[in-house]
Amino acid sequence: MRVLGISGSLRSDSSNHALLRAIPQLAPDCTVVIYDGIAALPHFSPDRDVEPAPSEVARLRTLVREAEALVVSSPEYAHGMPGSLKNALDWLVSGVEIAGKATLVWSASPSGALHAHPQLLEVLRTMSADVLLEGALQVTSARRAFAADGRLVDEDLGRTLAESLGRLRQRLAAPP
Ligand code: FNR
Repeated sequence: MRVLGISGSLRSDSSNHALLRAIPQLAPDCTVVIYDGIAALPHFSPDRDVEPAPSEVARLRTLVREAEALVVSSPEYAHGMPGSLKNALDWLVSGVEIAGKATLVWSASPSGALHAHPQLLEVLRTMSADVLLEGALQVTSARRAFAADGRLVDEDLGRTLAESLGRLRQRLAAPP
């Protein structure tokens, strides 16, 4: 599986980023590219959402188009998804790249992103992504789950994440 990971956190030691980095450890048949341009995207405006798209927007759209699937992993800030992530998603609304794309949502924060998780699912479904509700995860333990070298060492969480990736594999093998 060729996965594009999009992290909603810009924090250098982000646990959501760490979850995405752990994907090949959890699913050895998976390659993951983690999108690193979220902070370089301009603020979304319909006035700028015209051809040619701003270069970073074009790069994001190409990465989404080339991926077989998306894994969006995000924290919650003040009971909402991070503004930078919503901005990135807004740039994908008018394109065709995300429509029908198999998408997993992992939400890692102390509350399991109680509010942001359903919000993110709703936004992605509104954008016509193929959101796998049965593979969506709210993670409360991510910050304690990694060794200093970045390896995921929480076996229970590892199993849960691997099952979620298994759902993605099944969906790609049998699209709706
Ligand atoms: C948070 N955090 C947080 N957590 C939560 O569950 N609900 C919330 O409403 C908030 N609000 C919030 C506001 C601000 C300004 C900060 C800095 C933090 C905690 C945050 O989700 C948590 O630290 C995550 O672990 C951050 O994700 P990364 O950076 O580890 O990926």
